[in-house]
Amino acid sequence: MDQFRVFGNPIAQSKSPSIHQQFAIQTKQSMNYQSELVELDKFDLAVQNLIANNGKGANVTAPFKEQAFALCDQLSKKAKLAGAVNTLIFSQGVIYGDTTDGIGLVHDLLRHRVKLRDSKILLLGAGGAAKGVVQALIEQAPQSLTIANRTLSKAKNIADQYPKFDVRALTFEETEHLSFDVIINATSAGLSGASLPISSQTLASANTCYDMVYGKKPTVFLKQAKQLGVECVLDGLGMLVGQAAESYYLWTNIRPDVEPVLTMLRAELNNN
Ligand code: ATR
Repeated sequence: MDQFRVFGNPIAQSKSPSIHQQFAIQTKQSMNYQSELVELDKFDLAVQNLIANNGKGANVTAPFKEQAFALCDQLSKKAKLAGAVNTLIFSQGVIYGDTTDGIGLVHDLLRHRVKLRDSKILLLGAGGAAKGVVQALIEQAPQSLTIANRTLSKAKNIADQYPKFDVRALTFEETEHLSFDVIINATSAGLSGASLPISSQTLASANTCYDMVYGKKPTVFLKQAKQLGVECVLDGLGMLVGQAAESYYLWTNIRPDVEPVLTMLRAELNNN
């Protein structure tokens, strides 16, 4: 049977095996997809072992996305821009790397009928999570894309990668009196319960607020947005399933239906 893995450290919390198992059942494919805890200095070895044991592909999560990028023989344009890889494809001795996070985010937004074309998008954060979605957002032809970050230089570095699109880089303070249609939180601030230094006026101007993080309860960012009356408030569970669906498509050429899998995950999350 074709072998697939998700490599990470830690990895016990990963929902990827369950998601891909559901995709395989749904699309009548036989695959063995498991999570594998990899020691920090053993990533390359783990990949080689998988290839030697009928491995056809893998997902890569923290902290190995940059190591995966370095290991690949060939990379997609998105992976090159992100400097990171979350999907590996093994074919005829070649390791091909791609990143599906951005497509996962965009598909989830479009699934919720959020308009991206001609919209003013604000992306909060300039770490790996933000970097991984910029190209996919630009491909939706927004009116503007602004990146706001606590450390301005990191936002500027990302913006500089897209000379053709004129991505704006600002501090949080500089967004204070600006308005946007869609605001996406790609910072890790919420993980520690911290709220972002974004003005109520700016937040309330959006029709959609999206947090790449998800949990049983709404994140601080989404709670704030809801209180301010933002119409559409979405967490990152759909992005998780969306990026998995895109990886699955890269491996099998089949697009699974994300809806039933999302329903199952949401129910699991609420029951835990
Ligand atoms: P990830 O891979 O999840 O993106 P990361 O590369 O460490 O993780 O990036 C974390 C992002 O969250 C950064 O944009 C960080 O801002 P800085 O670049 O200024 O460090 C942002 N971040 C984390 N905690 C924050 C907080 N309390 N307030 C504002 N931004 C925060």
